[in-house]
Amino acid sequence: MRFLLRTGYEYLERGADGIFGPRLNPFAQLGALGFFLFWIVAVSGIYLFIFFDTGVVDAYESVEAITHAQWYAGGVMRSFHRYASDLMVVVLVIHLSREFALDRYRGVHWFSWFTGVPIIWMLYASGITGYWLVWDKLAQYIAILSSELLDWLPIFGESIARNFLAPENLNDRFFTLLVFMHIAIPLILLFLMWVHILYISRPKMNPPRALAAVMLIALIAVSLWKPALSQGPANLAKVPNDVGLDWFYLPLYPLVDSWSRGAVWAMLGGFTLMLAALPWLPPFRRPKPAEISLAHCNGCGRCVKDCPYEAVRLVGRTDQRRLLQQAQVNAALCASCGICVGACPSSTPFQRTTDLATGIDLPDFPLRELLEQVRRTASGLAGPARVLVLACKHGAGSGKRTDTVELPCVAMVPPPLLDYILSRNLADGVAIAGCAERACYHRLGVAWTQERFAGQRDPHLRARVPRERLTTIWASPTERARFAAELAEFAKAVAALPSGPTQAKTPPTHQSGAAKPARGLEAVP
Ligand code: HEM
Ligand code: SF4
Ligand code: SF4
Repeated sequence: MRFLLRTGYEYLERGADGIFGPRLNPFAQLGALGFFLFWIVAVSGIYLFIFFDTGVVDAYESVEAITHAQWYAGGVMRSFHRYASDLMVVVLVIHLSREFALDRYRGVHWFSWFTGVPIIWMLYASGITGYWLVWDKLAQYIAILSSELLDWLPIFGESIARNFLAPENLNDRFFTLLVFMHIAIPLILLFLMWVHILYISRPKMNPPRALAAVMLIALIAVSLWKPALSQGPANLAKVPNDVGLDWFYLPLYPLVDSWSRGAVWAMLGGFTLMLAALPWLPPFRRPKPAEISLAHCNGCGRCVKDCPYEAVRLVGRTDQRRLLQQAQVNAALCASCGICVGACPSSTPFQRTTDLATGIDLPDFPLRELLEQVRRTASGLAGPARVLVLACKHGAGSGKRTDTVELPCVAMVPPPLLDYILSRNLADGVAIAGCAERACYHRLGVAWTQERFAGQRDPHLRARVPRERLTTIWASPTERARFAAELAEFAKAVAALPSGPTQAKTPPTHQSGAAKPARGLEAVP
């Protein structure tokens, strides 16, 4: 099932790439869009709150006045509030199913997944109390069914449904309580959203401006085209029928109406438990976390900056070396992506020692083993251009090809290793094959690789490395054909290069017919 979902998303995302480009692709910005929508809902909610009256009769009338007497401001704000809330449900569903499809809910990802589950409950509770406040026929329908559902639980002393049996049972105090809940629950939601990203380094919390602008314009257009309206005042003397439902927040209400209350709770409880338990369900094999070798760690902090999961920090030195700090790995947070290995200044094959050791390494796939595999694979390369592929196991280049060394993430490759491969003539060209730019499995691997190659991030790829012998291919597993075509084109261009020493004395200039350096691969001093 996950495979199908992932393939489905891949195709959708590729389509969105064509429209928005990888940087603005909304699928890569779902968490950020969730935050952005929350702020829209909060600001429009504050505006509505200023004009809202709490009272059995006043509530409906004040909402009507907001909608019609000031349609250009209050009316638009109401629609904004509703449609942004609806969109938040859409974003949430896509976000959680995409994280599931990408297999980013187990191991170290469990925390974000697990804390996402109460977020769903809080979002729904916020939306439902919002509909309730309007006190129209729909609100009455929701009130009756929700209170009957709550009454089934043995936690409330008095029946809540009793309030909605006759007009005289309902009083203004109930609406004051409802307003309180409609403010308190979103605040809890915000708190949970903050907890949700606690162990994600540099979480994307703001969408790119262009994407935010497109979303705002779309929301304004829908608000003007189809303003949110009430469905006639509630009347407790009559049973509400023929109400129009908001299918984003209220799809369960027809079930509540027809099923037994116990069955609805069993379904909701079962679904929640299943979702919450998902990170611990088999099959799951967790690789060993990164380990520090104090003898090779100088406390520079590069690994701390590059780790996508806040799994490394700097602490006081525990050995006798005259250095202030050392890195320390929190094994519980480490995803064994190897990005820190690629960041460490000790990760260089140009070492004089025979046993390649580095400051931070993966016990299951140490840098020594990576170098060994590079040498072995390179020695088997043949043809007019010997192109070695260093491929992320989550991208299009993964698989058991004879020209490929597979890695947990391409950012595990220390730039000096590329220098080494080309300067020692182990290969004529190297292709770095990572995930699609919008869907880097380890979130920051593609970005850090690009920045290291462009000289914007330590460790830089040195200027002497001939860029025309290097390429990057960012492609997801559904893009194997494009990957193969780009790789073949690169091999052809490398074959056309003059043979001889592979070190560039001066930054190379690109000429037609020569291999084209990929974006970010231009030489830097
Ligand atoms: C409105 C609700 C939500 C918001 C605003 C939100 C926000 C975010 C953000 C900002 C990130 C970091 C994205 C990045 O920078 O790469 C993230 C990651 C994630 N979220 Fe959510 N999220 C929400 C709901 C959920 C739900 C309901 C679930 C699942 C039950 C979930 C599961 C995850 C997972 C598994 C990750 C990835 C963690 C990792 O890579 O280790 N989220 N979310
Ligand atoms: S392998 Fe390194 S970069 Fe990756 S999560 Fe572990 S400590 Fe962080
Ligand atoms: S990058 Fe290497 S040397 Fe720097 S703190 Fe991390 S382990 Fe130590």
